[in-house]
Amino acid sequence: MDVFRVNGGRALRGTVQARGAKNAALPIFAAALLTDEPVTITNVPDLSDIRFMAEIIRHLGAEAERVAPDAWRITAKKLTNRAPYDLVRKMRASVCLMGPLLARLRSAIVSIPGGCVIGPRPIDLHLKGFTGLGCSVSIEGGYVHLDGRHLRGADVFLGGRHGSTALGTANVVMAATLAPGVTRLESAACEPEIVNLCEMLVAMGAKIRGIGSHALEIEGVERLHGTTHRVIPDRIEAGTYIIAGAITGGDVTVEGAIPGHLAALLDKLRESGVPVETPSPTSLRVRGDRPHRRQPVDVITMPHPGFATDLQAQMCALLAITPGLSIITEKVFPNRFMHVPELQRMGADIAIEGASAIIKGQERLSGAPVMASDLRASAALVLAALAARGESWIQRVYHIDRGYDRIDTQLRALGAEIDRLPAEQMPKHLEAGD
Ligand code: EPZ
Repeated sequence: MDVFRVNGGRALRGTVQARGAKNAALPIFAAALLTDEPVTITNVPDLSDIRFMAEIIRHLGAEAERVAPDAWRITAKKLTNRAPYDLVRKMRASVCLMGPLLARLRSAIVSIPGGCVIGPRPIDLHLKGFTGLGCSVSIEGGYVHLDGRHLRGADVFLGGRHGSTALGTANVVMAATLAPGVTRLESAACEPEIVNLCEMLVAMGAKIRGIGSHALEIEGVERLHGTTHRVIPDRIEAGTYIIAGAITGGDVTVEGAIPGHLAALLDKLRESGVPVETPSPTSLRVRGDRPHRRQPVDVITMPHPGFATDLQAQMCALLAITPGLSIITEKVFPNRFMHVPELQRMGADIAIEGASAIIKGQERLSGAPVMASDLRASAALVLAALAARGESWIQRVYHIDRGYDRIDTQLRALGAEIDRLPAEQMPKHLEAGD
């Protein structure tokens, strides 16, 4: 296991290139199983989650081959229907294999994913969608058994108590592409990653209307064919680097991003007095080095186009050094505050009240040894360490490697003092106790 050693207090300066979106690539890999023809996927980020999804796909009998540093080819001539616990438990996104298996094989046996530190990760809406399409669902021994012999189009409402479901929408749409008849999905997710997936399905021959809206209409077809498809830029990675520029008072440009995918973040940053610009249709720039008055803000996370829950922890780190009282309310994953106790170790003044974090901005944070817990909480700790006075050690950085492609290399190129070291090199007296 590696750790990051960060020496904070330096303003970041320079340009970073946004990579392909993890949360688009994962369902897109699954969608490649909907045809027996080769599917080539480009602009794929180099992440452990991607490599892991490829491993599961091979386990199911398909070929998954990396044909370039950022491109994969998947050919599902052969396919079996069982995704085992020891693979699924390691990555929740593998639940989105259910839809393609149902569509292709009319049967799927997939382990129920465990919860994770950001809270319970139910799949009731996924199963409601499949049942609505005529499948029978049974839970046995921790596995979902899906019988899709009577799969057919239907009207399905996919909204849950926290709004729409991204992977639930992906799953049901993929099943519907090969279901005889017409499926109308209400309260579908319209995250850019789901739009990217639907665009690939259409390129494979699927008939989908309403892409990008909360109401999708899918007309089932006999079969889908191969295609080549490009993954959209990762808006969460881009947003993380913009916040890195803001939190360190630097001047950072993110190239290859899509500003429209980050409208809610840009709106909140501007409201908080952070000068962010969109120099071109595919770039973002934050001028934290310019004199500007910072203001506290209230943030509420919501499904797209609301403020992304995946940027909540990073925003929390920025607001920890924003003068005044800010409030962040987490409406998507109400328990998603694992970063708060670690930020408090760095001097942040944050109180959790239910699903809200009440943040009293501090002059500065101070470096400390902290523990990463999940992907975005870990990113927040890196951002805080970059802004803090002194040295921080961040343990269990494998969490970060799941969603950020060499974040330490990227940040060093922007002038950060950050090193990736083997855990053994961390001073013993700094290691967290149990
Ligand atoms: C996707 O997860 C992302 N992961 C998450 O990113 C992201 O936080 C989330 O969407 C919300 O944007 C991938 O795309 C691989 P949901 P997903 O279903 O689809 C509840 C990251 O850091 N719900 O949209 O699994 C659920 O509990 C990860 O990159 C049900 O109640 O999330 C949550 O409260 C973390 N029943 C809300 O809906 C269900 O059947 C939204 O979850 C499904 C979800």
